[in-house]
Amino acid sequence: MACFAVALGVIVLCGFISLPAAKDTCDLYAAVGESLTLPFVYNGLTNSHVLRWTHNKKIIYYREKGKVSVGNSLVISATGTPLLKNLQSSSAGTYQVTVLHSNGTVANTWTGHLCILDKVSKPQLTYTCDSSAVNLNCYVANPQGLVFTWTLDGNDLTSETKQKLSISLAQLLGQRSFTCSVANKVSKEKSDVVRPTCKSPTLLCFPSKTVVAVVAGGAGLILLLLIIIVALCCRHRCNKTSVKDKGGLRMLSLSKREPDSTSRVYETMHPSEDCYETVSQSEAQTENKPSELTTAAEGVQPSPVPKPRTKSPQTPNV
Ligand SMILES: *[C@@H]1O[C@H](CO)[C@@H](O)[C@H](O)[C@H]1NC(C)=O
Repeated sequence: MACFAVALGVIVLCGFISLPAAKDTCDLYAAVGESLTLPFVYNGLTNSHVLRWTHNKKIIYYREKGKVSVGNSLVISATGTPLLKNLQSSSAGTYQVTVLHSNGTVANTWTGHLCILDKVSKPQLTYTCDSSAVNLNCYVANPQGLVFTWTLDGNDLTSETKQKLSISLAQLLGQRSFTCSVANKVSKEKSDVVRPTCKSPTLLCFPSKTVVAVVAGGAGLILLLLIIIVALCCRHRCNKTSVKDKGGLRMLSLSKREPDSTSRVYETMHPSEDCYETVSQSEAQTENKPSELTTAAEGVQPSPVPKPRTKSPQTPNV
């Protein structure tokens, strides 16, 4: 832990030290392997001029009276500008040019400091979710001195310039797409598009409604199924008993004021009554003593409301 802190401190310190220094001394940037035409132009250049280029104070090109004595391989434009090919880190440093008139006075001069940088690699955009935010990380191996930019749904987040970006989950509603880009002076690379889905934290707020809805829906479905099953059972049982045990049922459904009961009135109009009767009827069936149960039921229940026996919907099998 201490080592990590020290290392982090060193990195941060180095970043703070090297960055302004680099900015102060580099006015030209190029990537390794690239070619560069130094930005020097002297339109009045003739063969009468002395043209001298130095790199880190070492003469790399010298031409006097049209005769090149140093740097024959260097390509120099008509305006005195060299083309630097296949730059390497050794190509960095101070380039200086001096143009002299034939009488020895200085006609023009220019100095520039070239910095050679590696091209950035494509960043890997990753994210983690916590309870309130999604934390995005624009990972590159060497982030020192690099510029990070972010887009959300294709729009630049101009205020976000760090390697890491934290977006609250409230801002993350809907499908949001992120990219990050990393750039240095010579190159820029963009990450793949990432659409964060923070499932576990979002369960705390937004999908709680979903959970409730699912639970309620499931319970409702179960209830509905139960009702359907009960209804089907009742109908089935009632039909059965109506077929099989008309005697017992008759005694249940009809009061004792109907002793003749030649007309077996069977109330199909009141399924709930029938169901209760059917239940007791089935018990009676197991006991095989319908008469006892009938009398018991009669004893418990006061005589029911007189059923309107109209024209006795006769069941076909008597
Ligand atoms: C040297 O030559 C240039 C161009 O020919 C001229 O402008 C300049 O005045 C000369 N300087 C001197 C000191 O002769």
